[in-house]
Amino acid sequence: MNDKIIDGKAISLQIKSEVKSGTDILISEKGITPGLAFILAGVDPASKVYVRNKGKACSDLGFYSVTENLPENVSENELLKLIDKFNRDDKIHGILVQLPLPSHINEQKIIEAINYKKDVDGFHPLNTGKMVIGEKCFLPCTPYGITELLKRKNIQTDGMNAVVIGRSNIVGKPVANLLLRKEYNCTVTVCHSRTKDIKEVCSTADIIIAAIGKAHFVKKDFIKEGCIIIDVGINRVEDINSKTGYRLTGDVDYEECFEKCGMITPVPGGVGPMTIAMLMKNTLDAAKGVIFER
Ligand code: GUN
Repeated sequence: MNDKIIDGKAISLQIKSEVKSGTDILISEKGITPGLAFILAGVDPASKVYVRNKGKACSDLGFYSVTENLPENVSENELLKLIDKFNRDDKIHGILVQLPLPSHINEQKIIEAINYKKDVDGFHPLNTGKMVIGEKCFLPCTPYGITELLKRKNIQTDGMNAVVIGRSNIVGKPVANLLLRKEYNCTVTVCHSRTKDIKEVCSTADIIIAAIGKAHFVKKDFIKEGCIIIDVGINRVEDINSKTGYRLTGDVDYEECFEKCGMITPVPGGVGPMTIAMLMKNTLDAAKGVIFER
């Protein structure tokens, strides 16, 4: 593959193979099998695919997993009861509630009900707080995957200007905070819908993290020569040549930016596979109990 392309698929396979070895050792030495519980509420087709793929990764790596499919009209109380059950279940080391939840559910209340030691998504405020102050904790899987790509491609981020486009709790805010930590030492700017001139801000970036959910938003004239581009977008665009009638594309205009950039993640095959790999890593770490030991 071209040196410019950051092959997230290959790197995720490497990480999963490391997790598989760690799992085999944990099972043979301690008799502990990592266990992950998925909770899916409603019928969102994308969420169903994500949970199915995560479940498949569990069986590939020898994890124990359970999936609870709940109807769209499930009550907050039923969800809380289920979380309580998994919090007390010794076979379960990680609990993942797939987001978004149906609109009548208070998402934050649900996230905060998960025991932070089983919060392998890294969304509990206790993990968020520890991430911000640079302590060991569960890191959210997509931001963790992004920093792992940078590490494994030997990208020296010290002093780099990183521009994050998007301020979601799942990607934008956590990745901005991670890049600020001492391991990465970036100067971080976060752009969002009210930012005055995103193009101008991006032109100063050594690294761009695009996580806005708008197909082909980042164009060639946004970036400076040699910029490293991490594309988190997974957008469906119409494609009459595809069997499904659509194809997946990122937040970056890949064709336009390829020549000018220093490195770039493709979509699909860039950040996406890393999210699942880091979820598996977090779950193994939860089973080993290595995150919160002192
Ligand atoms: N929805 C989109 N991304 C994620 C994720 O990483 N974890 C969960 N739980 N839900 C999501």
